[in-house]
Amino acid sequence: MDGVTDPAFRRVVATHGGPDVIFTEFTHVGDICGRRNMGWEPLAYSERERPIVAQLYGKDPGLFYQATQVVCELGFDGVDINMGCPSKNVAASGSGAALIRTPDLALDIMASTRQAIADWSSGQTLAQGGVKPSVIEMTKSMNTKRTGKPQPQTRRNVPLSVKTRLGYDKVVIDEWSDCLAQGNPEVLSIHGRTLAQMYRGEADWEGIAAAALKIRAKGILVLGNGDIRSLDEAVWRIQTSSVDGVLIGRGALGNPWIFLKKEAARQAIQQSNRGLAMEPPIALEDRFRMILEHAEVFETLNGKERFPRMRKHLGWYCTGFPHAAALRANMVRTTCLQDVEEILADYWKCQHGHEEAFASGLRFQSTGSSC
Ligand SMILES: Cc1cc2nc3c(=O)[nH]c(=O)nc-3n(C[C@H](O)[C@H](O)[C@H](O)COP(=O)(O)O)c2cc1C
Repeated sequence: MDGVTDPAFRRVVATHGGPDVIFTEFTHVGDICGRRNMGWEPLAYSERERPIVAQLYGKDPGLFYQATQVVCELGFDGVDINMGCPSKNVAASGSGAALIRTPDLALDIMASTRQAIADWSSGQTLAQGGVKPSVIEMTKSMNTKRTGKPQPQTRRNVPLSVKTRLGYDKVVIDEWSDCLAQGNPEVLSIHGRTLAQMYRGEADWEGIAAAALKIRAKGILVLGNGDIRSLDEAVWRIQTSSVDGVLIGRGALGNPWIFLKKEAARQAIQQSNRGLAMEPPIALEDRFRMILEHAEVFETLNGKERFPRMRKHLGWYCTGFPHAAALRANMVRTTCLQDVEEILADYWKCQHGHEEAFASGLRFQSTGSSC
């Protein structure tokens, strides 16, 4: 998710259970091919996030070819093409969900991406694939930073997937998914809304189920997506919607624990059990520990100057406990990890009159301000 599943958040999620597969934020193929340095940020990852899939967007099959070779060389476990983003910037330029209206182009992009994976896995170098020398250097430097080696040791034919919506301004998933199936993706992820709906209303799981039934019969794995807020709901959707699995987006905001009980969920599905036992709410102390851990990882990876981008995550954690709104209001002004430590310490002191219970094992310091 753009601006959300950044390297720091992905690392935190992966440390605390993590999903079966994680996707990067979408990255523009032009940025990967050398348009902007900033565009590469989503492509930084740590080994513990595996399996990790790089999501690409754009509309130029030639750029998809080169960008795919770069993400293969970076060692990603899969390549996902975004054909679902409804945002004006993306769709107005013909990328993301706008590709639903240009099925021939969508298939060209898939073919080009597939070809790039095949060429790379059979030994073609980035230079032979037409990738610019500066981009090749950047790839080597990212690999060296992550693994100590400039190139991956093995080459393999990684899976190609597409993430899309039910339609553009009306539901056309029946024809649209048939069209996408011609591109032979290993996986098709379907968000149960049209572009016109953006994120409004409820996801249409009947629409997802109808498409899933047909597409799975062609040997393509189908993941449903939309409005899942717990693993219990995930189990229910998998049991009732003919999908192989689900994607969870907003349900993970301020809730990186959401994947913790995935083994129990898997068992419930395999044994056709209805649902999971109710989880107790996350204890405030654990929530605060998570906030500190996430803020620390963010600051370590990005430095203090970029800390404002962490604020939205801090806000998402502050919900469902006494005076959460007041804490949230303070979090949106933080500029570094130390600010977060002080705010949490002060909150704890105000609520409990002492710091010891929470301070055990944590390094934060109260400013000593009164409540
Ligand atoms: C802030 C935000 C950023 C998103 N960025 C992406 C993205 O980069 N790639 C993508 O495939 N979907 C993206 N999405 C869509 C989500 O992946 C997901 O399809 C949608 O939110 C519905 O699922 P959910 O109800 O589980 O969140 C984004 C959604 C939001 C709210």
